[in-house]
Amino acid sequence: MRASGEPVLEVDDLHVVFQGRIGLGAGILGKKAAEARAVDGVSLHLQKGEILALAGESGCGKTTLARTIMGLERPQRGTVRYQGRSIWENLRAYRRRVQMVFQDPTGALNPRQTVYESVAEGLRIHRVGGDEKEQVARALANAGMRPPERFFLNYPHELSGGQRQRVVIAGALALEPEMIVADEPVSNLDASVRGEILRLLLKLRDELKISILIVTHDLGLAWTVADRVAVMYLGRIVEIGPAEEVLARPLHPYTKALLDVVPEPGGIDRPILAGEPPDPTRVPPGCRFHPRCPEVASGRARTAGVEERCRAQDLGLVELRPGHFAACHLAALGARGDRATGPAEAGGGVTERSQTGDGPARPTTAVET
Ligand SMILES: Nc1ncnc2c1ncn2[C@@H]1O[C@H](COP(=O)(O)OP(=O)(O)O)[C@@H](O)[C@H]1O
Ligand code: SF4
Ligand SMILES: [Mg+2]
Repeated sequence: MRASGEPVLEVDDLHVVFQGRIGLGAGILGKKAAEARAVDGVSLHLQKGEILALAGESGCGKTTLARTIMGLERPQRGTVRYQGRSIWENLRAYRRRVQMVFQDPTGALNPRQTVYESVAEGLRIHRVGGDEKEQVARALANAGMRPPERFFLNYPHELSGGQRQRVVIAGALALEPEMIVADEPVSNLDASVRGEILRLLLKLRDELKISILIVTHDLGLAWTVADRVAVMYLGRIVEIGPAEEVLARPLHPYTKALLDVVPEPGGIDRPILAGEPPDPTRVPPGCRFHPRCPEVASGRARTAGVEERCRAQDLGLVELRPGHFAACHLAALGARGDRATGPAEAGGGVTERSQTGDGPARPTTAVET
């Protein structure tokens, strides 16, 4: 295990709601805009030197969660703690230690700034001091731009997409961050360049011990780089655990559906999921995935006797295997069955860590909440 010690980042019961826009006519008629529950009760942690991939379809709240972790959105409820302290206590210091890398390197770079100026910008904003030229060169070299001096005077349009993303990463590295939040850092890049940038992220973790939260809609990418994977659906994490566990032995039907379509080299596949794409202004009751769940549609949930709970009973994450949590009535039933027939174990139950609660993990034999 590369990651160790106490968590550096602790997110607890986070809720971010966006007020919907409403037309003038509807406003006069007294109609209220629908609220979008973009992040709807998320708890997670990140350890030093760990890469956590946050995966899920477009619109499930990944960017909102990442932005809230960065202190760019104010949550309505919940906390984000970094090294034990709320990020809101000293946002400026936090923003220096934790850097964000966005999806689109072209948009992130000022076309009129040279590579040198772009990388030096953060150093100047945070008044870091010291030998700026040396710091810029080191950041560029760490981001794989070698020899760095060769790129100092280049403008973004003179670089390839991969080089531009390296410059963005160098801008983050210049501040010697302890954590990087990368939102879809390779999704705008050619397949050939993606591998290079991913190898770079792995190198940063291994050599600089940087913790990385990488947002992606691509589970194949999570497979390549992550120590742990969190799968998000409609504002919630529905499964989280060690990458090889979640990706090779998924427990949640949503993760299974996403994995059925991990893109093949050269092909762009989409998840084959029935029903409407999720809408955070209309979160279904019960398990929020139930209108699209293949287990419900196929009748397997009914046969197992959980369908009513699927439709009516909301549930948090439950530890079904060591370190591997899922929010699914059916999977929990399966795990209990495994344990009943498996080797004797103290309590014989599963462990629940409520996604919306704020306490530590508590053992329970019942999954129902
Ligand atoms: N500033 C905003 N105002 C209103 N709704 C928003 C805003 N930002 C995001 N949303 C909505 O929140 C949901 C989650 O969006 P987002 O976090 O961008 O998801 P993802 O990154 O997973 O694609 C979407 O339905 C989106 O339309
Ligand atoms: S709780 Fe029910 S509806 Fe939700 S994912 Fe599990 S089987 Fe499907
Ligand atoms: Mg996004």
